[in-house]
Amino acid sequence: MKPETRKETEPRQLFGRRQTRSLSASKQSVFDEALARLQIPQELLNRGNLKAVDVFGKPFEKFWFEIGFGNGEHVKNEALAHPDTAFIGAEPFINGMAALLNSIRDQDDSNIRVYMDDAMAVVNALADDVLDGIYILNPDPWPKKRHWKRRIVQAEHVERFVRVLKPGGQLIMTTDIDDLAEWMCTHAANNPDLRMTANSPQDWQTPPPGWIPTRYESKGVAKGRRQTYLVFEKVGRLMA
Ligand SMILES: C[S@@+](CC[C@H](N)C(=O)[O-])C[C@H]1O[C@@H](n2cnc3c(N)ncnc32)[C@H](O)[C@@H]1O
Repeated sequence: MKPETRKETEPRQLFGRRQTRSLSASKQSVFDEALARLQIPQELLNRGNLKAVDVFGKPFEKFWFEIGFGNGEHVKNEALAHPDTAFIGAEPFINGMAALLNSIRDQDDSNIRVYMDDAMAVVNALADDVLDGIYILNPDPWPKKRHWKRRIVQAEHVERFVRVLKPGGQLIMTTDIDDLAEWMCTHAANNPDLRMTANSPQDWQTPPPGWIPTRYESKGVAKGRRQTYLVFEKVGRLMA
């Protein structure tokens, strides 16, 4: 079924690897316990209209969502640096989820919740205007044209991101692949509710203040690859 014709509540087919190696017995039991404690329960997602207080059991002034966190270095360090901000991270790759859960074992995890499946299921379950920001950092590029429809940044998804962002909330997307940067920039710029914050190429070649690089980004920079930082803000539309 084409993404445009699928209903919001229907599960999306996931692409890409779910697991590359099995976990040892001891890692598996740590993983099972932590996932059971920190994963957003399916009943909550089914209920929908979620705010931070529904997910975390207490209100947070700020609320961010990281889509496709890989091994989770960025969301882990953001949560550590901003204990008063709530962070959700979605990642269907089991070994990536295990890496994050293992890395936050000795950390206060009261401001992190996770989802080990399609990030769009979380987006669909959130209430309107609740997020201060969404990170999509180095999403899978799907370089072949026939696979472009698998990219997480699609016009229809951008509309859904806009729905859940607060006015002034940010959509931050990065990549070191120029074609994908252009794709993501065009899709966001085509949405009338988003405004790019950059005034010059220097702005999108410079990380936002206080930036915490992801593992993919650090590896790329070490190999001389240039990262693009696309920051869009939700603008309020005037009522007709
Ligand atoms: C190239 S990796 C980048 C990982 C990390 N953001 C980084 O920069 O190191 C892209 C990640 O997006 C995840 N991903 C792909 N589709 C997803 C989806 N629909 N929802 C959540 N994560 C997804 C993949 O499993 C993969 O770990």
